[in-house]
Amino acid sequence: MNKEAISKPISNIKRGMQDLIVDTTSVSWVDGIHGKLYYRGIDIQELAHFSSFEETAALLLYGSLPNQDKLAQFRWELQKWAHPQEKVLRIIQELPQYAQPLTILQTGLAALACLERPYDNNNSANIGENILQIIAQTPIILAAAYRRHLNIPILEPRNDLSFVENFFYMISGKIPSLRSAKILETALILQMDHGFNSSTFTARAASSTLTSCFSAISAAVGALSGPLHGGASELLFEMLEDARASNDVKEYVKNLLNTGKRVMGMGHRVYKTVDPRALIFKKFLEELTPKSEKNSDLEILSIIEKEASHFFKEKNKPIHANVDFWSGAVYKKINIPSRLYPAIFAAARVVGWCAHILELRQDNRLYRPEAKYVGAIKVPYIPIQQR
Ligand code: COA
Repeated sequence: MNKEAISKPISNIKRGMQDLIVDTTSVSWVDGIHGKLYYRGIDIQELAHFSSFEETAALLLYGSLPNQDKLAQFRWELQKWAHPQEKVLRIIQELPQYAQPLTILQTGLAALACLERPYDNNNSANIGENILQIIAQTPIILAAAYRRHLNIPILEPRNDLSFVENFFYMISGKIPSLRSAKILETALILQMDHGFNSSTFTARAASSTLTSCFSAISAAVGALSGPLHGGASELLFEMLEDARASNDVKEYVKNLLNTGKRVMGMGHRVYKTVDPRALIFKKFLEELTPKSEKNSDLEILSIIEKEASHFFKEKNKPIHANVDFWSGAVYKKINIPSRLYPAIFAAARVVGWCAHILELRQDNRLYRPEAKYVGAIKVPYIPIQQR
């Protein structure tokens, strides 16, 4: 037993690793005080406005904005890996209809790993190819998972469509309008990376053992699927519908908070002010909601936000809307079903996880923290007959 660990005072423990700096990164920075998010130093607002999925992905993965040739090459490589894997699709078809898309994604990524011949996890060319394969296969697996749920045929991606158009098409069978494609693209850009959040930390911790990219990303998907992380967006939608059905949204929120429940889509470990991504989603929702629409999601969410903010202010808690608060209502407007909200998050965040794996592999060190042991020691072993 490490004596130092035992003697460390409990007050030194950062539960939930809050405020604990465990590594360096230059992939993204969350400025929680000013409500800013930067990818490789570029303000997310600019990327959301001007960039594409592929361009932002290349920025995160390789460190700088690609020129036209490099962007074309990157697009081509993503397309090269975007062929549905027959064996993976067959496994998806065998899973129960009620299986959640993120659980199916975990399974699909693990299955992709099984299709690889044994190879050197540490070879940078292999890693480079694996991350492209993972980014390209993720929307295919997620769309297949959704169509399996509906029991309708799975669609193959089309070469004439962009990454985002293909994702939309493989889910719905329809090519999105320019506006819907731009909204989905912005949503993916906004959620690609976000400092050392739980799933990114999981990807890095797993990858630090030099396991394969598939294993590390599959572990990260598991972390993302929890209701305190990527699962919040779907639960938020349930809350929205409950609030609508209650016929008194203010009372509903008061009740929720006074009984110690959580308002989904509010609060954040790092942001002490409003999440900049939430502002962009809110603006989309305002644009997409006709003024004449009665009892709209915008109206109900605005009441929830106002009531909850008032409650939190009185309790002196810096809790504000996060990225999930408005996003689901925006997705609904472009006809994406609530079952897929966490899936959109995953299709975006997989890029950030891959960027972190690439960064870590430049100078890897095993992640191996310690816990303060508070159990008994030197307990005698009692034979089973005497217990
Ligand atoms: N609704 C109600 N109370 C909330 C809250 C919310 N959404 N978020 C935090 N709180 C309260 C907690 O009850 C706790 O109160 P207490 O100190 O009186 O016990 C306090 O704020 C701190 O909460 P804690 O869970 O320790 O903070 P955290 O930094 O770990 O929480 C989240 C971050 C995201 C897990 C949390 O805000 C949350 O659960 N949000 C809802 C889920 C969500 O939207 N997740 C998506 C995140 S992008």
